[in-house]
Amino acid sequence: MGFSNNFLWGAATAAYQVEGAYDTDGKGMGIWDALSAGHVVHGDNGNIACDHYRRFREDVAIMKSLGLKAYRFSVSWPRVMPEEGKVNPKGLTFYSVLVDELLAAGIEPMVTLFHWNLPMWAHEKGGWAWEGISDAFAAYAKVVVDALSDRVSYWMTINEPCCFIGLGYLTGDHAPFERGNGGPEDQKKFAALTRNTLLAHGKAVRVIREKGKKPPKIGAALNGNLYEPRGNTPEAIEEARVRTFGGDGSFSDVHWWADPMILGKASKLQRTFLSDGDLAVICQKLDFFGYNSYHTSNFVDDDGHNPEVYPGMPRTAMGWPITPNALRWAARFFYDRYRLPILITENGMANCDFVMGDGCVHDPQRAEYIRGYLAGLKQTVEEGVPVLGYLYWSLLDNFEWAFGYDKRFGLVHVDYRTQKRTIKDSAYMYREIIRTNGAEM
Ligand code: NOJ
Repeated sequence: MGFSNNFLWGAATAAYQVEGAYDTDGKGMGIWDALSAGHVVHGDNGNIACDHYRRFREDVAIMKSLGLKAYRFSVSWPRVMPEEGKVNPKGLTFYSVLVDELLAAGIEPMVTLFHWNLPMWAHEKGGWAWEGISDAFAAYAKVVVDALSDRVSYWMTINEPCCFIGLGYLTGDHAPFERGNGGPEDQKKFAALTRNTLLAHGKAVRVIREKGKKPPKIGAALNGNLYEPRGNTPEAIEEARVRTFGGDGSFSDVHWWADPMILGKASKLQRTFLSDGDLAVICQKLDFFGYNSYHTSNFVDDDGHNPEVYPGMPRTAMGWPITPNALRWAARFFYDRYRLPILITENGMANCDFVMGDGCVHDPQRAEYIRGYLAGLKQTVEEGVPVLGYLYWSLLDNFEWAFGYDKRFGLVHVDYRTQKRTIKDSAYMYREIIRTNGAEM
């Protein structure tokens, strides 16, 4: 027992975070290209990033040397459609050649259609609040599907709507850096943002399903609150489940997005802005439940006390708590509710990594993190939950949005002055996990 023989061991990246080449070969501007100045530490931006646009062959060779079976990357919408209705063939060629390179290396390509760098032309019409965005997204999906679906089977429509909507339009931490004040205008806008995003997902799924040349496997990469049981009793597990899926939901809850997408179900609050007709578009058959997992949420007692958070507890360089049971409970709870095989579309940690005197990057914290989280996942697999794969975030150190380049999540260290790649110790450990299909961790 353990991970299936065809388990997809892999790693993930996203276009804006690694590609660079922000104005090359006809690429248009996206909201992160155009608006991030003044919002990112040290004034960092993704103009050059890991220069993956030019160095992808070297990066694929590294993946192959590590034995990766899958690589999740995103297509940059502004690279492929620099203007509304205009396709940039050179942009598409980049992804087409990348897919060929991956397949030649025996690595399964997994495509995310939207990982946050919205084209400026769409932003200028209102971004995700623009009524026409779901059709525009479907048109873009068609362009990518036409170009890649003869070789790509795995598709993710959108990545973490919780973040690009919540952080982009309400808290102002991510592009387009809009801040809400919680007033009635905000509520209206939030309703439109949710509705348009869900419709975009549903319309893109339809396009992939209908136009995909290879039989597609489709999902989204979601994230959001997940409560871990306090103890192993059935009552504790139920309590955590109720917390995870409870209430009307808000943008930071997984079920805010997943219930309409997968169950065709809207909460009472969502019913005020989602019609039955909308739900029929949003709810399309999916093939897997993609989940990005970093840590579980903590219970807070009625008196505001949180026993699981204590001074000096293990945390990553992001300050995020290290909770190795996160994958275990994510796979269990999301499978029980949505009945789709689980794909861990992201999991990983930022660490204080640097190249040491011996030329290596020693990162035992990350090795421990990966082992611990995977042990939890393995337990759930052995309890019968179908899990298709695990994609470490990230293949490379990269541009961590508003945190810039200081936060290093990679299996591979990048020296941004020279673009030199150094494989970290944890990557060699991951290679062994892959080689033994998780038997040795
Ligand atoms: C989730 C996002 O999808 C990714 O872009 C980000 O870098 C990681 N989390 C780490 O914060």
